[in-house]
Amino acid sequence: MHRKLFICGLTIFFIATIITINIRSVDSQNDMVERGKYLVNAVAACGHCHTPRAGADYDMTKYLAGHPENDPYPRYDFSMIQKNIFLLVSPQLSAFSGPFGTSFATNLTPDNETGLGEWTEKMFIEAMRTGHHQGNKDNRKIFPPMPNKHYAQMNDADLKAIWAYLKTVKPVKNEVSPVLNRFGRPY
Ligand code: HEC
Repeated sequence: MHRKLFICGLTIFFIATIITINIRSVDSQNDMVERGKYLVNAVAACGHCHTPRAGADYDMTKYLAGHPENDPYPRYDFSMIQKNIFLLVSPQLSAFSGPFGTSFATNLTPDNETGLGEWTEKMFIEAMRTGHHQGNKDNRKIFPPMPNKHYAQMNDADLKAIWAYLKTVKPVKNEVSPVLNRFGRPY
């Protein structure tokens, strides 16, 4: 009789432990996403470039979706350097042109074809740390004005939190143009 009671108690104890561990891990995943949201919106201001403006305000239907496909963009002309002009910006504040070429804020939503859907956490962290396209050292450098030098100093926990949050935002289909070199041709 005592033995049965003991086994029953032990089983209940194990089930309760497993439930507690699971609740804890769901909680910590939620905390991570919340922290990522805070970092993206309140600290690192990723949307400042990656969410296009419609007029004076953000176009929230394209939250973090990058420069709208087929929208016009500025082209730098080298004579501008004499007038101390270094950077031209599109009205959406999402496409940039300078002596380096032309860059377009990319689609950070988890859309599989046009966003970061196919990216891994490792690619994301390496891209932020190394400043190389898709986090691959053999690829070109990420173009200005992406503030890589600053984000590279974030710790692993913060970069992982940002990644966790980006995975939860609404996927938006928006095929952002590839960067152009200083002659206006795809890099
Ligand atoms: C000042 C503008 C600006 C801000 C702020 C900014 N970005 Fe960017 N980002 C860009 C531009 C422009 C590109 C395109 C550069 C290129 O294609 O080489 C880019 C590209 C990227 C890429 C793609 C890199 C690749 O491998 O091609 C990722 C990922 C990215 N940004 C993430 C972020 C995150 C996350 C934040 C906030 C923590 C952020 N960006 C904030 C301008 C910005």
